[in-house]
Amino acid sequence: AAGGLVAVAFAGCGIVTPGPVSTVGEVDFDRPLAIPPLADSTVDAAGTRVFTLDAQAGTTEFEPGEASGTWGFNGSYLGPTLVAELGEHIRVDVTNSLDEPTTVHWHGMHLPPEMDGGPHQMVAPDASWSPEWDIDQQAATLWYHPHPHGETEDHVARGLAGMFLLHDEHERSLGLPGEYGVDDIPVIVQDTGLSAEGELETKQRGYAGGLGDELIVNGTRSPYLEVGDELVRLRLLNASTARSYAFAWSDDRPIELIATDGGLLEASVPLDQVRLSPGERAEVLLRVEPGERLVLQSQMTPEIAGLVGPVADTNGGSDAFDVLEVRAADTLEAAPDVPAQLNTIADFDEADVVTTRRFELSDSFEINGESMDMGRVDETVTVDTLERWVVENATQVPHSFHVHDVQFRIATIDGEAPPPELAGWKDTIFTEPETEYELLMRFEDYTDTDTPYMYHCHLLWHEDQGMMGQFAVVEPGQSATMTGGTHHEH
Ligand code: C2O
Ligand code: CU
Repeated sequence: AAGGLVAVAFAGCGIVTPGPVSTVGEVDFDRPLAIPPLADSTVDAAGTRVFTLDAQAGTTEFEPGEASGTWGFNGSYLGPTLVAELGEHIRVDVTNSLDEPTTVHWHGMHLPPEMDGGPHQMVAPDASWSPEWDIDQQAATLWYHPHPHGETEDHVARGLAGMFLLHDEHERSLGLPGEYGVDDIPVIVQDTGLSAEGELETKQRGYAGGLGDELIVNGTRSPYLEVGDELVRLRLLNASTARSYAFAWSDDRPIELIATDGGLLEASVPLDQVRLSPGERAEVLLRVEPGERLVLQSQMTPEIAGLVGPVADTNGGSDAFDVLEVRAADTLEAAPDVPAQLNTIADFDEADVVTTRRFELSDSFEINGESMDMGRVDETVTVDTLERWVVENATQVPHSFHVHDVQFRIATIDGEAPPPELAGWKDTIFTEPETEYELLMRFEDYTDTDTPYMYHCHLLWHEDQGMMGQFAVVEPGQSATMTGGTHHEH
């Protein structure tokens, strides 16, 4: 049935191009994993930590000697990792050296809407933009990427993305691996392809959007990671535009999940797989033996990935990939035990829900039967009240759902309590076909009648097609006064 639906949705598009894919067993792991540099920052006289990001075009050699045209922040591909601490006031001086407008959105961050970097905060070529805000949320693995309406898939696929790590004292007191690039490793997973001329290209287009034929991690093809500590923390980010992954270890040992989008779980959860749709993050712990080698794989089945029909056929009927080989040194630094309790997560009291809203993800890339309109505020939320958002994927293919400004909790999935891996703080969820999710969330601190936040499918082609809506957060009794149009900043 799902195949039929996809055929209907894409009749006439002719967008599937069969091509070779590098699946399990075909990756040589012959290149050291690149680690994105930590972003430099300065603290000004007022105590503000200031970062600088410049969106720029350049060339990257994914293959030695073969230059590909790519985009990056402060470099030619991806961007530096920003690190900040709970309670800090930060500013990011963003400049746009591209020859087209873009934005920088801080995915997962609680911040005022005019600092959010969504489609209303466009930065023109040669212009700059300096959002500033207080870091007011727990330790977490966040990220940043462009969000220009209709162009997000293209800008992210060209390489504009980076990690944004938040720390706090509680997290540090746990003694988790925390030395960046040594035992605390960013793992930015993307699918991409190189043309015969060495240019980045989308090898296939399916209903999900553009798909590459191989995986790169932190921009590295065929990567291995050497570790010298017996305990390693991997921060997995699905920065792909369309593809979802189910991360697992090649020897079938459990994958130990310790944190989701918004921070640490109450306790580590051993899983067969960690499933991430585009935009989602997970922190996992890995304990290795001296000299051991193992491979992080994605064991997604095409049915769950929604890669049905010709796309799955070109991939040998599977959507499994080798991602990264981990090589443990012959002698390893000992690591302390990880405390059984990692965090305390207070539940919302459903009796406090003031407003229930429904969001139906429907065919033709609509939400509640509407396509994104930059001049229309779809929902008006009263600040500091508990909201229940009922998100129904009414289609026969997977989507995802992301809400700006907030970390939410999943109350139910088709009426049942969520499994432990989905019981923590989330800002993006994979929504399975014909499945309903009840989310609880509270928007705090920031109100603005004139500047909305976004909610949308994070399959970026869907988002670009209009699978996105806008909400304003206001004081009690206020209404949204947005007049429409895009605010350009110069
Ligand atoms: Cu990661 Cu609205 O985006
Ligand atoms: Cu979608």
